[in-house]
Amino acid sequence: MKELAIKVKQAPRSKIRELFDLAAGRSDVISLGIGQPDFLTPKPAIEGTIEALNKNITYYAPTRGIPALLEELEQKLKTVNRIGTSWKDNIILTNGGSQALNLTFASIFNPGDEMILSSPNFISYFYLAAFFGVKVIEIERKSNYGPDIDKMKDSITDKTKAILINSPNNPTGYSLNKKEMDKIVDIVKQNDLYLISDEVYENYLYDDSQHVSPASLKDMFSRTITINAMSKLYSATGFRLGYIAASKEIIDIMEKYHQFTAAGTNHAAQYGFLKALQMDSSFFDEILMSFDERRMLAFNRLSKMGFEVVKPKGAFYIMPKITKFGLSGAEFSTRIMKEHAVAIVPGNIFGSYSENMLRMSYATKMEKLSEAMDRIENFINEI
Ligand SMILES: Cc1ncc(COP(=O)(O)O)c(C=O)c1O
Repeated sequence: MKELAIKVKQAPRSKIRELFDLAAGRSDVISLGIGQPDFLTPKPAIEGTIEALNKNITYYAPTRGIPALLEELEQKLKTVNRIGTSWKDNIILTNGGSQALNLTFASIFNPGDEMILSSPNFISYFYLAAFFGVKVIEIERKSNYGPDIDKMKDSITDKTKAILINSPNNPTGYSLNKKEMDKIVDIVKQNDLYLISDEVYENYLYDDSQHVSPASLKDMFSRTITINAMSKLYSATGFRLGYIAASKEIIDIMEKYHQFTAAGTNHAAQYGFLKALQMDSSFFDEILMSFDERRMLAFNRLSKMGFEVVKPKGAFYIMPKITKFGLSGAEFSTRIMKEHAVAIVPGNIFGSYSENMLRMSYATKMEKLSEAMDRIENFINEI
């Protein structure tokens, strides 16, 4: 038989899936593995979708999305992100943040282009780059997980097309401050690059961290692809809805790709997203308070156990270093799952500099999180 698609075939299977496979059928497992908030999707999102289905809105939606939702997103981008857009030209709906990334890669890169990112970073960036023939230049994060901006600058070549940032970040929980953002933006402008800004965790911020959307900064809109999604804010990962804000030129290219690869997004669900966006943002206050408590529980317990741990500033992940325990992240993850039924993602799936790290999601109830920490403590006392 002739060779099947090499790029996809050669991509390793998701280690997160392997972890789920190990957990399958075991009721005793506590998962710190999944990137999904545990609160219920707000009612308006569900009711809006049901109402649309009851009106038989089951046919193709416009490729870019329904006008009412795009208009609502224009408002949201203006008030929350301070990004000025025109819904007719600058916004496209996607199947989650994942497809927003896919459209971004499809519309700005040519094979051989280079893209710079801080490492560790979200796993899909590495796979998409491989699928689209883009070379990833990984810049190791500093010990506090902040970006090494001087190294970023030094790694620019005539092939560099874009810098990709994800703040707040999965897996490290780092959130860029304004000074860092300004420096990155300067590099982008000085070197005529694009900036891909994945902002799917924009609302999960703690202490004094503040979200800055780079597209809102001077002369940056035309260079920035802003990615966001319904998934994390509304605990609606199964809705598969996300969106991109970018220049008309870029959105026009994305629309072409979208038309011939997905033909749009779920029509009825777009009405659910619309209703969710119309909710008062205060619905999220209590949720954020509860996530903050979990963050502090995870941070304090792990620190006491002797993990080298950076206090997360955003998202709902914590990424301890485990050098002192004499196991790699992969060994730690496999053993703690088998021996103590805790699902933890090994760091090595997030790039080349995280072999000795673990990623834990604390988007789980306090009692379970606390029990998971007890089990981790028992495990490290045994090794
Ligand atoms: C940084 C980041 N970007 C994008 C996504 C994809 O989001 P979605 O579930 O909306 O496809 C995720 C999901 O975990 C993520 O962590």
